[in-house]
Amino acid sequence: MFKLAPSILAADFNKLGEQIACAEKAGADELHIDVMDGVFVPSISFGMPVITSIRKESKMFFDVHLMITEPIRYLEEFVNAGADGITVHAEACSNLTETVRKIKALGVRAGVSIKPATPISVLAEVEQELDRVLVMTVEPGFGGQKLIPECVEKVKELASHRKEVSASFDIQVDGGIGLSNVKSVYEAGAEVFVAGTAVFRGDILQNVKAFKEEIGIAD
Ligand code: DX5
Ligand code: ZN
Repeated sequence: MFKLAPSILAADFNKLGEQIACAEKAGADELHIDVMDGVFVPSISFGMPVITSIRKESKMFFDVHLMITEPIRYLEEFVNAGADGITVHAEACSNLTETVRKIKALGVRAGVSIKPATPISVLAEVEQELDRVLVMTVEPGFGGQKLIPECVEKVKELASHRKEVSASFDIQVDGGIGLSNVKSVYEAGAEVFVAGTAVFRGDILQNVKAFKEEIGIAD
């Protein structure tokens, strides 16, 4: 499986609707929505009002990546705003299992993300209940960073662990993904690829096409 999830963090917010429509038309599989609180990560991005607004114009799967402390406080609001899936950080939750169960109870897909220094063992308590694990390939907080090669090893480790424990989550990567590395990360076992800069800088249509060609998917 290969899915491309453009991150709107790198979009031109003055033309947000237009650029999302372009990514959708180009064949992007999901829309990745990065929410940052200035506490869990140093930067602040945007929240529910932006999601509510773009929801009216797009039918894409909204993949909401919460880089916020104790996300359990806001899950319902993000679902009401239009999230189809919510990914929380293991490091940001005092009760990860409860948080994941609440996401599922709200009827959307549940994901857990781990930062580059966080081992996959933190997933043990929830791995059988998860729809997605997001392996950060940069330190969360900013777009436009360079992929940390060690994180690709973690993708391999996670893919073989998933087999061992017969779990069914998909493996997503986020940060520094581009045409020069997407194939090797795909071969390591990742299935859902977040790309901000590599999709929204330049020609969106061409960029999405180039990703699919690089993996060998023609459409
Ligand atoms: C980083 C965010 C990413 C980011 C990716 O904290 O989670 O989704 O927007 O951007 P690029 O693809 O530019 O590294
Ligand atoms: Zn993200």
